[in-house]
Amino acid sequence: MNNETVNIVRVAMIGDIVGSHGLETLTVKLPVLIKEHNLNFVTVNGENAAEGFGITEREYKLIIQAGVDVITSGNHVWEKREFWSFLENEKNILRPANYPPSVPGAGFARIEKGGVNWIVINLQGREFINAIDCPFMRFDSIVNEQKDVAKPQIIIVDFHAESSREKEAFAYHADGRASLIACTHTHVQTADERILPKGSAYITDIGMTGITDSVIGMDIKICQERFRKQVQYQMKPAVSIEQGQLQGIIAEIDADTGTAVSVKRIA
Ligand SMILES: [Fe+2]
Ligand SMILES: [Fe+2]
Repeated sequence: MNNETVNIVRVAMIGDIVGSHGLETLTVKLPVLIKEHNLNFVTVNGENAAEGFGITEREYKLIIQAGVDVITSGNHVWEKREFWSFLENEKNILRPANYPPSVPGAGFARIEKGGVNWIVINLQGREFINAIDCPFMRFDSIVNEQKDVAKPQIIIVDFHAESSREKEAFAYHADGRASLIACTHTHVQTADERILPKGSAYITDIGMTGITDSVIGMDIKICQERFRKQVQYQMKPAVSIEQGQLQGIIAEIDADTGTAVSVKRIA
């Protein structure tokens, strides 16, 4: 493809930051990644940034300073009560859009950057997780509300869900309307990144940002005890002298059509 005649933009979506090691990994590695790949837009899932559960103003500021445009989240985003007013007031941090409207925070954001209207939508699945509103219908209604937004317009989705089949079903529902559908929540990166028939880039899980020698970023021993004894010991992020791993996905998108032209994992 000839990049001189096609308006190609590059977007990265980064997996859940787990605790202070995850945060440190992000602040060290993301600025390098942005430069190396000439990234135009970056999202990060921040639901586990504050010692594994939720996010506070401190983590919010460090994540944004690292070069992130929008922080997405999921079921853990409300764990730190003191952050709720921040969720209400800041436009560049999201909670899943299909929770009841009275829940603090917004579920999508529209950011004008580099001559492109970036629409970031955060949704959560319902299989094996909270029984909230339908993410398929909520996606349709948000896309419909944004249809008159000036072009070029790029829609990207963080679909936070437990079930792989729900993630794939949603991806084919959104195919051709979103440019990139990146799923989160299970923290284990999948190797199924691809461009769907109508032009959306997709992956079932982008992974996480934290210590790899862990159970989904958490302390191995505590997780084992939870399973062995069936007692809900409080999980804590894994610690290590090794640096953490930053995982996610990078897609190249034709800004004029919204079609993804390439997709690759950050692993
Ligand atoms: Fe998470
Ligand atoms: Fe989650």
